[in-house]
Formats: sequence, structure tokens, C-alpha cells
Amino acid sequence: MSDEPGLFRTIYTTRALRRFKPDPVPDAVLFQCFDAAIRASSGQNAQDWRWIIIRDPAIKAKLREWAVEGWERYSARYGSEEDIRRLPRNQRLSLLSVRDLALGLDRVPVIVAVLGMKGRHSTPGGSTFPAVQNFQLAARAMGLGSSIFNLPMREQLYEMLGIPESNQLYCLLPMGYPADRQGPVNRKPVSTVVYNERFGEVWAFAGEQPDEGWGERWLG
Ligand SMILES: Cc1cc2nc3c(=O)[nH]c(=O)nc-3n(C[C@H](O)[C@H](O)[C@H](O)COP(=O)(O)O)c2cc1C
Repeated sequence: MSDEPGLFRTIYTTRALRRFKPDPVPDAVLFQCFDAAIRASSGQNAQDWRWIIIRDPAIKAKLREWAVEGWERYSARYGSEEDIRRLPRNQRLSLLSVRDLALGLDRVPVIVAVLGMKGRHSTPGGSTFPAVQNFQLAARAMGLGSSIFNLPMREQLYEMLGIPESNQLYCLLPMGYPADRQGPVNRKPVSTVVYNERFGEVWAFAGEQPDEGWGERWLG
């Protein structure tokens, strides 16, 4: 794809997107996401990730039901919707997008269920999430958006999706063409999370860089 944004622009603009247009995702686009995902590393090169593409309206409707239940439980800690609207901007926007995804989950074009082999690796999930990240970066590079979304996770999903005992469901990934804009993403500065030689020791070079990082280089 000649018009893909390039690695760093893709990384600096891949954020959790939770509102989607109804446009279907072509199989060729999905295939490219999976073909990029499975290039990731995994412990012992086991590649024991498994992925289920969910487009069936009945399954999406059930997932929506569970997501809405999950949202009601989760959002209760913030109080009413009025209380949420009074939160600081970033937190408010993020929570409202979670709510909108829960309420609109049955209208999301594709939901991908991500699985890995149960008990196989010493770092559970460590052999799955690098592939999830590849998947999300590939989706973003092609103009799609996605977010890990675990509010609908239920034991019943195993039976509904025919997942064998040997597999663990790690996350759900709703995806589609986004109704919100891609990045940029804001994160804690490198200088506050990277240490030099010993925990807590300042890395001087990072301390001299702008707190917002080097995104400007790629976003222009
Ligand atoms: C392991 C993991 C679990 C996550 N679970 C959820 C989730 O259940 N629901 C959700 O809306 N977002 C979930 N996310 C997305 C994060 O909330 C999101 O990436 C983070 O808030 C940063 O948002 P931003 O990239 O838009 O800045 C998850 C991300 C990770 C890596």
C-alpha cells in the first residue's frame, strides 16, 4: 500500500477508537490485519494464538447485552452520567466512548476474539498481546480503528464461540472504520517511566527531551 502512513506515524496515532461507521470491513483488509498480527513473536515461537472473526448479528447482540451490563457495573463507580460529564476532559471523553461502544456493540462491523493456549506460557498473555498490537497497528495503517474491549467477557462466550478447554480468551477487539479521528496519543513522558541502570535513577538524555516526546517529528 503506497499511501500507508509509515511506522512511526502509525505508532504515534494508534489510539483506542470505539465509535465506528457502519461500513463493512472487506475480507482483504481483515486478512492484511491478521497477516501482520501473526508476524509477531511468541514464546518458543509457539504461535498458539487463535482468532475468531465475529460478524453474526445474533452473537453481536448477545455481546452488546453483556457489554451494557458490564458498563452499568463499571460506570457505577463514577456515579451518574451527570457525574461522568463533570470529570476532567480526557477521562470524560474516554468513558463516554466506552459507553458508546457498549451501547453500539451490535452495530460494530467486526469483533475479533483473541485466544491463546491455556497454561502454555510462563507469562500469560505475553505470547498473544504482541500480535494484538501488530493487528491494531496494521488496522490503523489502513485507516481502521479498534480497541481492546473486555466489558462483554463472560464464561458463556466459550460455549457460544465453541472455544475448546485448552484455549483462553484474552480479549475482544471491536474494529471498523472510525467515526472519531485517529491519534495523536498522549502518554506519560519517557523520562518518568524509563530509568538508568537502577530503578528510580534518572536517565539524563530523556530528561532533556520535551515532555510530549518526539511525536512532532512524525506528525508534522
Ligand atoms: C490489556 C488491555 C485491556 C484493555 N481493556 C479495555 C477494555 O476492557 N475496555 C476498553 O474500552 N478499553 C480497554 N483497553 C484500551 C485502553 O483503555 C486504552 O488503550 C487506553 O485507555 C489508552 O487509550 P488511548 O490509546 O486512546 O490513549 C485495554 C487495553 C489493554 C492493553
